[in-house]
Amino acid sequence: MITVFGSINMDLIATTERLPKPGETVAGNSFATAPGGKGANQALAAQRAGTAVRMAGAVGNDEFAVPATALMKEAGVDLSALKQTDGPTGTAMILVDGQGENVIVINAAANGEVSEDDARQAVGNMNKGDFLVLQLEIPAPAIKAALVAADEKGVTSVLNTAPLTHEAAELGRMADIVIANETEFERLVGADELGSEGRIAMLKTYHDETGQTVVITLGGEGAVAMHEGTFYRIDSLKIDPVDTVGAGDTFCGYFAAGLDQGLDFEKAAHRAAAAGALACLKAGAQPSIPLSEEVAARLSPEP
Ligand code: RIB
Ligand code: NA
Repeated sequence: MITVFGSINMDLIATTERLPKPGETVAGNSFATAPGGKGANQALAAQRAGTAVRMAGAVGNDEFAVPATALMKEAGVDLSALKQTDGPTGTAMILVDGQGENVIVINAAANGEVSEDDARQAVGNMNKGDFLVLQLEIPAPAIKAALVAADEKGVTSVLNTAPLTHEAAELGRMADIVIANETEFERLVGADELGSEGRIAMLKTYHDETGQTVVITLGGEGAVAMHEGTFYRIDSLKIDPVDTVGAGDTFCGYFAAGLDQGLDFEKAAHRAAAAGALACLKAGAQPSIPLSEEVAARLSPEP
């Protein structure tokens, strides 16, 4: 069983040929709203991967509270632990340009009210051997409390160090499993512009030092990882990305789900990379997260 303790947003997504410069107004090509937030996206991804998921976090009492959780609800994610705050739900204003590049402004709102008590309660409801999945869109003290509680309880913690915050390195070292992109990994180890060989060397050093399982996601290049003393290179599917929003979250949710389902490390990571690639083929975060059957079909194509 997986508990995701993290953020829930309503994503407000506009597409435009070219992102505006400061002070400039440009015409958009489309506008859509969709449920998002890194926590919720990862919860939905794990559920779509076929495992049981509980989402812990907060929504507000505004018009976004219900639509922000609609896809999780439809998929069967357990929402009974959600708290409702007296104020707005988190939002992400996302602008995507003609090349699929995006910029995002997040207003934490209800996510900013997730507390250390909420953390202890969420982990308190878990069982030994369960997986706790975290990201960095809720307050650092709550994340820290959850990591400490998970450790005490014998729950495996999976921390995705996104989006990068000041506490990323400190929190990253507290988790059993860390999933970071290239920039986040550099922050974790306090290095700059490592390049691909330097990154792998640093990954090995860091793993030897901390014993943590570390996955570095490399976008279209898949991922590299160190797990129990072994180095892994994880391939992804070759695709032509339309919109990468949600790809990282899909990877994290699928990866945790795979481990929870008893897949070995390499299989879990490989399936997660394929799922993340498929999430780049559709606009938005949650609407683009593939079902396990879709991922399986791409992993073992018909002869
Ligand atoms: O990782 C993508 C997510 O980041 C979006 O859904 C948005 O809500 C932001 O939190
Ligand atoms: Na997407």
